[in-house]
Amino acid sequence: MPVPARLPMPLAKCLNFSDFRHLAKRRLPAPLFHYIDGGADDEVALRRNTAAFDDYELMPRQLTDVSTIDTRTQIFGKTIAWPVLLSPTAMSRLFHHQKELAVARAAANMGTLYSLSTLATTSLEEVAAASAGPKMFQIYVLKDRGFVNALVARCKAAKYDALCVTVDTPLAGNRERDHIHGMTLPPKFGLADLASFALHPAWSLNFIRDPDFRVANVAEMGDAKSMGGMGLIQYVNAQIDRTATWDDIARLIELWKGPFAIKGLQSAADARMAQQVGATAIMISNHGGRQLDGAPAPVDCIAPMRDAIGNTLEIICDGGIRRGTHVLKALALGANACSIGRPYLFGLAGGGQAGVEHVLSRLRGEIELDMTLMGCRRIADLDNTFLAKRREP
Ligand code: GLV
Repeated sequence: MPVPARLPMPLAKCLNFSDFRHLAKRRLPAPLFHYIDGGADDEVALRRNTAAFDDYELMPRQLTDVSTIDTRTQIFGKTIAWPVLLSPTAMSRLFHHQKELAVARAAANMGTLYSLSTLATTSLEEVAAASAGPKMFQIYVLKDRGFVNALVARCKAAKYDALCVTVDTPLAGNRERDHIHGMTLPPKFGLADLASFALHPAWSLNFIRDPDFRVANVAEMGDAKSMGGMGLIQYVNAQIDRTATWDDIARLIELWKGPFAIKGLQSAADARMAQQVGATAIMISNHGGRQLDGAPAPVDCIAPMRDAIGNTLEIICDGGIRRGTHVLKALALGANACSIGRPYLFGLAGGGQAGVEHVLSRLRGEIELDMTLMGCRRIADLDNTFLAKRREP
């Protein structure tokens, strides 16, 4: 039986994803909540990303001395305290005035890696100055290759630990909730939703008092200089290069020369291509169900992709993770780590840095508890012998 939905509650009382989601829904004007919460078309991929975890069962081993549990793992050559990263997401300023700085600081305090999006509202240099924790920067293949090269050079200068390129976004997906609620990229809030802004005066007043909305990393981009923040996002969408191929990725890897992830792959064939072009990691992702609806759930792609590439590349499972058990299933299937987006954005909306820390601390706590209950002391010990069976969907 599913746990019944609970009423919205203050941050300190939130226990799980559903609680954080309710809190964010209460805090945010409707267009912004639905921008985070929604997916493409009929949201089948969005739902399936989480539901697919139920097709796997965890097989515990008993009497293994679980008096100490070690959740540390390695990713991109760095040790992180537990195997969940923060995925790149656009425009944190829309959800809380502490914006990306809050998320980066929370990730560092909680011992994990933060990924900053090209479409962030804080510059990569500001984030680097604010957080000494491990950091990855996310890029797209843009038509203006000179600008992409400049971004890569800035990431090197700011000492980012890894770079990732998002490849599942030649065009933005059909996110109908954005149309229904008047949230477009760039955001244009429709008349119908003015009431929603009036009903969220704390958010609205804060936004008006501190309207520091800049798509900070692209503010210097070529002819975009003269545009306002909102126009810039539309500009960047139009700038994503649909002629991009694996050769462009190989060129980026050569330019960066460090840990490099390709985000948005799902097939075994593409995993082999990632290996051939010299990537060091794959982020299995369908963009949180926001791009191609009907794409497979990332968790279902792990084993076929791992089989295709052996132990050569790191695999990060991005999408649908709501529970510690989800993380442990993904790792038992062959992933090195998982990555989350919506959970931390709801935490950010619900309480800024403290909200993100609360989300991360709940998830980390669940992982420790679940490893104890599984009789698994170390992340490296997790393999498919901890999986009981896969139910046919
Ligand atoms: C941006 O990448 C988004 O999914 O909104």
